[in-house]
Amino acid sequence: MMESDKMKVTPVSEIVGAEVTDINLSDPITDDTKQALRRALLDHQVLVIRDQTLTPEQQVTFSAIWGELETPSNIEYTTEETHKVMILSNEIRPDGTAVGVVDGGDFWHSDSSHIEVPSAITILQAVKNPERGGDTEFCNMYAIYEALSEDMKQNIDGLYGIHHVSKVKNKRVTISPDRPGAKDFYENSAKANPEVIQPLVLTHPETGCKSLYCSPRFTIGIQGMSEEEADPILDALFAHITDRKRPFHYRHKYRDNDLVMWDNRCLCHRAVGGYGLPDIRRMHRTVIGGDRPLMLINRRRPKTRYSGL
Ligand SMILES: [Fe+2]
Repeated sequence: MMESDKMKVTPVSEIVGAEVTDINLSDPITDDTKQALRRALLDHQVLVIRDQTLTPEQQVTFSAIWGELETPSNIEYTTEETHKVMILSNEIRPDGTAVGVVDGGDFWHSDSSHIEVPSAITILQAVKNPERGGDTEFCNMYAIYEALSEDMKQNIDGLYGIHHVSKVKNKRVTISPDRPGAKDFYENSAKANPEVIQPLVLTHPETGCKSLYCSPRFTIGIQGMSEEEADPILDALFAHITDRKRPFHYRHKYRDNDLVMWDNRCLCHRAVGGYGLPDIRRMHRTVIGGDRPLMLINRRRPKTRYSGL
């Protein structure tokens, strides 16, 4: 356990995640506290900060100490107070419109890895938890990288994964039948968005540690390889993420007033779901952008040939 002033940081599992208590994020954050939180985030990758009731503006103020906030692409699903806070919710208004983004993140992913400069840190405040369900699972991608065989580490070193946002380009995911118009949405996004490459092994810009950086949701191939060559590698890597025994994982069940923040550069996560109307889940999300493309952080040139498993 680590303490700064009064703040306490206690691991929630052996492998990833820590609970933070005795801190009020609506107060001004001192430099010492910021450094302690940063250290805790780098050490544990996920922080569960208990007992926070931040207004949307206060959440933006707290989020901004970590870097520049991303602007949500769909202003329709942001709070009235500020468009920097996105609403994740299954609530439907009497006129039939959705209050927030309804079905996000059900497949393992790292936020926005499909864009050139992906999200660095994501912050979720639990405003309303459902009676059941609504958990988030995390897996430690440093630990998965460490657990790979030396042969696999060598084989993927310097390779680049191909990432894309559209589910119709990804045979490992399915489109929810509950979301009206989703098929058209993903057909259009397949045409509108380019493929992006990201290093399969990322050197974290702050810790300097190596992390696996790919996901079943967004990684659809490996640069310079045929599908037949890439699939066995990707399937072997993804098997660690989806391992039913969850050896590298932490599952967070939200308490009221939890504020959870995580580091996308060394984690994958997924929304577990398992709730439905009239049971309402509402989260307020802010996202801190990365400061440069991950492939520049790694400063390696893509390989064009692969030498076998
Ligand atoms: Fe996500």
